[in-house]
Amino acid sequence: MKILLNEQQIGLGIDRLASQLKAHYGDQPITVVAIMTGSLVMLADLIRRLEMPVCISLIRASSYRGGTQSGDLLIQDNMMLDIKDRDVLLIDDIFDTGKTLVQVTKRLTAMKPKSIRTAVFLNKLGQSVVTEVPDFVVFEIPNEFVVGYGLDYQDLYRNLPFVAVLEESDLQNHLTA
Ligand code: IMP
Ligand code: MG
Repeated sequence: MKILLNEQQIGLGIDRLASQLKAHYGDQPITVVAIMTGSLVMLADLIRRLEMPVCISLIRASSYRGGTQSGDLLIQDNMMLDIKDRDVLLIDDIFDTGKTLVQVTKRLTAMKPKSIRTAVFLNKLGQSVVTEVPDFVVFEIPNEFVVGYGLDYQDLYRNLPFVAVLEESDLQNHLTA
């Protein structure tokens, strides 16, 4: 596997995001809404660097049915906190076509928060099919299928502490495993 971002680079990236959020929100309380399951690792690392009061809420969105192709989006919000009148920071692992972030933002907007900002760990360049862009991006990456630091292939590899490109030969191994 080709490593795209190592642990040290990721740590510095999350530090940078925490400083940007501090500059944006100051000491104001925020509710971090994390899109499961991909943003789980980013969530754990980010919240431990935030100094303002933080509430955590989870929402689930699944668009990938096993493979690397995008499918229909299923949003499950039964684990959401009440975000009415809250300042919400929505986080996700990766902005690819952008459909997930846009649709989840729409769902959250209906819950009447005071504000919504979005932050993604990775922005896959050249793939977006939407006009919206994330407010905060930790890293821009080329158009490759990546795993690790929360990102999966068939629900595997989320536990890797680095981000790696999943290559054609790795996919072949899955087919024959
Ligand atoms: P979007 O809706 O096309 O922006 O896709 C966002 C979702 O697709 C993310 O939350 C990921 O779960 C998944 N995804 C997109 N690209 C990758 C990738 O390179 N590796 C793993 N998951 C990905
Ligand atoms: Mg995901």
